[in-house]
Amino acid sequence: MQLAGKTALITGAARGIGRAFAAAYLNEGARVIIADIDYERAARTAKDLDPKNALAVGMDVTDRTSIDAALSEADRHGFGDIDILINNAALFTAAPIIEIEEADFARCFDVNVKGTLFTMQAVAKQMIARGQGGKIINMASQAGRRGEPLVAVYCATKAAVISLTQSAGLDLIKHGINVNAISPGVVDGEHWDGVDAFFAKYENKAPGQKKREVGAGVPFGRMGTPEDLTGMAIFLASDAARYIVAQTYNVDGGQWMN
Ligand SMILES: NC(=O)c1ccc[n+]([C@@H]2O[C@H](COP(=O)([O-])OP(=O)(O)OC[C@H]3O[C@@H](n4cnc5c(N)ncnc54)[C@H](O)[C@@H]3O)[C@@H](O)[C@H]2O)c1
Repeated sequence: MQLAGKTALITGAARGIGRAFAAAYLNEGARVIIADIDYERAARTAKDLDPKNALAVGMDVTDRTSIDAALSEADRHGFGDIDILINNAALFTAAPIIEIEEADFARCFDVNVKGTLFTMQAVAKQMIARGQGGKIINMASQAGRRGEPLVAVYCATKAAVISLTQSAGLDLIKHGINVNAISPGVVDGEHWDGVDAFFAKYENKAPGQKKREVGAGVPFGRMGTPEDLTGMAIFLASDAARYIVAQTYNVDGGQWMN
């Protein structure tokens, strides 16, 4: 039980990687706030995982009023003292450079970058006021390590997440708050169903073909699963990671080296 007595807020935890993080944290003894714009699904997830120790709240990470309301709701239910935040909510978008639409650009930056910053600010303020430090984990991506021809906007948002992690990590460590990031490679799930559909459209591939190709290209030999990432998420949230500041860790089966 590496996280016994801790409370974690995980954004975008209704499904996918965030849900796996919630399950892993609950298993390590933490209480978890499952915060998602899709409240119905977050509620189902909380009920499925652990109705006593998991709390679903509706939260739109792009909207400060919504974030504050979600934090108040968590407090009303006795989940107010947040020790760990995972900024996991994100959107994917893809298009050739000359076809990128302003609305897509704005929405993707809003959720992935502004949402990460706004949620980090709101939770860090509480952590500073409480005076017991904390752990913040941002979800980056191998897409933030280098550009891709059809994925300019998403790649740029994830490069921004790596940069925000560095700046926030350097600023907040004086309060005992460790800010770090996880950089996954290709992780199967509903997110990648959407990615596969984009590539089917732009690269004229059969449904499922892009997934098979990227899986075969991973040095480990397959796409990741959400559970492949949980070890790093537990480690970065634990006291064992107290001296780690402003870093982004690749958990990607060997895709990227730095
Ligand atoms: N799946 C991959 O291959 C992969 C690879 C690298 C990085 N990542 C990153 O890992 C994280 C989780 O990915 P995933 O595959 O589980 O994604 P996903 O699309 O399955 O889940 C994202 C969740 O975020 C929620 N969400 C979307 N907009 C929101 C908003 N405005 N406010 C609150 N919640 C919102 C969605 O409802 C959904 O539950 C993301 O940051 C993603 O960019 C994923």
